[in-house]
Amino acid sequence: METIIKQIEANVAKAFEEAGYDAALGTVTVSNRPDLCEFQCNGAMAGAKKYGKAPIVIAEEVAARLKESVTADAAQADGDAAAKTDSAVFAKVEAVKPGFLNLTLTEDYVAAYIAALAKDKRCGAEEPYQGKKIVLDYGGPNIAKPLHVGHLRSAVIGESLKRILRFAGAEVTGDIHMGDWGLPMGLVATELRHRHPDWPYFDESFTGSYPKESLFTVAELEEVYPAASAKSKEDEAYKAEAMEATRKIQDGDKGYRALWREIMRTSKADLKKVYDRLHVSFDLWKGEADVHEIIPGMVEEMKRREYAHESDGALVIDVAEETDKKEIPPCIILKSDGAALYATTDLATIEDRMKNIRPDGMIYLTDKRQEMHFVQVFRAARKARLVLPETELAHIGFGTVNGKDGKPYKTRDGGVPRLENLLDEIAARMQERIAEGDRDLSEAETANVAEQVSLAALKYADLSNQPAKDYVFDPEKFTAFEGDTGPYLLYTIVRIKSILRKYGEGGGSVKEARIRPAGSAAEKTLQLTLTGFGEAVMRSAKELSAHGLCAFLYALSNDFNSFYHETKILTEEDEAVKAGYIALLALTLKELETGIGLLGFEAPERM
Ligand code: ARG
Repeated sequence: METIIKQIEANVAKAFEEAGYDAALGTVTVSNRPDLCEFQCNGAMAGAKKYGKAPIVIAEEVAARLKESVTADAAQADGDAAAKTDSAVFAKVEAVKPGFLNLTLTEDYVAAYIAALAKDKRCGAEEPYQGKKIVLDYGGPNIAKPLHVGHLRSAVIGESLKRILRFAGAEVTGDIHMGDWGLPMGLVATELRHRHPDWPYFDESFTGSYPKESLFTVAELEEVYPAASAKSKEDEAYKAEAMEATRKIQDGDKGYRALWREIMRTSKADLKKVYDRLHVSFDLWKGEADVHEIIPGMVEEMKRREYAHESDGALVIDVAEETDKKEIPPCIILKSDGAALYATTDLATIEDRMKNIRPDGMIYLTDKRQEMHFVQVFRAARKARLVLPETELAHIGFGTVNGKDGKPYKTRDGGVPRLENLLDEIAARMQERIAEGDRDLSEAETANVAEQVSLAALKYADLSNQPAKDYVFDPEKFTAFEGDTGPYLLYTIVRIKSILRKYGEGGGSVKEARIRPAGSAAEKTLQLTLTGFGEAVMRSAKELSAHGLCAFLYALSNDFNSFYHETKILTEEDEAVKAGYIALLALTLKELETGIGLLGFEAPERM
């Protein structure tokens, strides 16, 4: 559906043209002075120089035309009584100095527009990204290491971006890109060998089949890695052993490869559990290991075509550019000992994706401390012609999750907090709050609702911030039911659902209810806000940030609650007026629920 701004713009552009000016001057925006008008056009100012006239003169001429001639073109709406009436677009058109056009819409026009919105499955949102293929690289967990708060942001922001871009029409492939290769794997294998030298994985003469059931648990793996990492820092021989184990895994030693597969299987099953709980899902569970085999060919090609050259024994691609304000070091492809690095696997992954998926763009979500890595990788990928000139490569670097003291969030004993424990902590708090409120819920229901509300709290707190900003992990603030929080949105949704339920129980039909022209300022404000859903989502898609969508949903909730507090809805005596309110509520609900779905969470029936 065409946005309301575009519809208004068509009218204003026509008026400019009829008055003898360029139609392109008729650009309309939402008013930045809502106390004066609803929309504004600053085109007279832009045109003053070209036409050699004072802007106010142009504005007045255009205003005069708008006042006399323009009527609504509600042709979009189908068969709806309110929508069919050929109502005037503007209730008020004012030219004010130095040359603004201040515009206020009629109640009828706004009602006709949102009546059409109410019939649209997508609440008026267009699909500008149709035909675009995007790979979204998010999550990025490391095998055998627990997920921590840093991985939380990648998962939460990535999942929401995936949903938003899909809603905008793009074909998105979400790839988890696991850290499943390299020294950490060798460290874990080495520590396991020290602890269990009798395991068949370490017996070179073993010819039987390796155990079907895992010999270790995730909890054990998570304890093994930090222990091994600490030892390797103090003990040279241990480190050498771990490097040898890494080589064995990578070169396909039978026992070590089997152990690695077992580590992968155990770790992935656990990761999946946590991501399921977060309502985060991936189309591809690929990782660094998947491109291991294509690295030698890629490196050969880079050497042969002289994209890469030797420097101090290492193989590098120079990526510095003349316009750089700070130094961008060369991208290292192979270390002097011939080992591939993080950048090497990322470049090979790009090659692989171009070959197998052929995306128009790739978007990566990691901590912003990896910014330099991605600058180097993207430049190297272009230089080595791994992508097409028009392939878009973007890195979204997000800030650190901090505690209330402004320092990276830590557990009480100073360790890295496990993501699962954080979820548990929030859910426990939430459960208490909900039990205080709704007395009718059973214990099991309370636990379910608490989990849903916790997820909303956690995700909204993250998404409503600009990704690049650090954010403070404050369970107390997250779980508040007021203010700019996830639970507040859910609370608003639950409130609307309850009113609609009661209306139905009283014999009313929500489906048959029709939107009516606003009867109060609060109702008109709510109606006007409802017109902006599609634009809010598309802005978020363009900016690759859910921030704008969050702000829209918060504003919508506020406008709804203001309307709710000053309007008697179910006790309204005029049935047609009451039905109008109900239709408005149903549309508000649809936008809020679609919106939070794009953020990656859902609302309960009660809370
Ligand atoms: N595993 C990495 C980490 O924990 C993140 C991977 C991000 N994706 C990528 N293609 N480099 O830091």
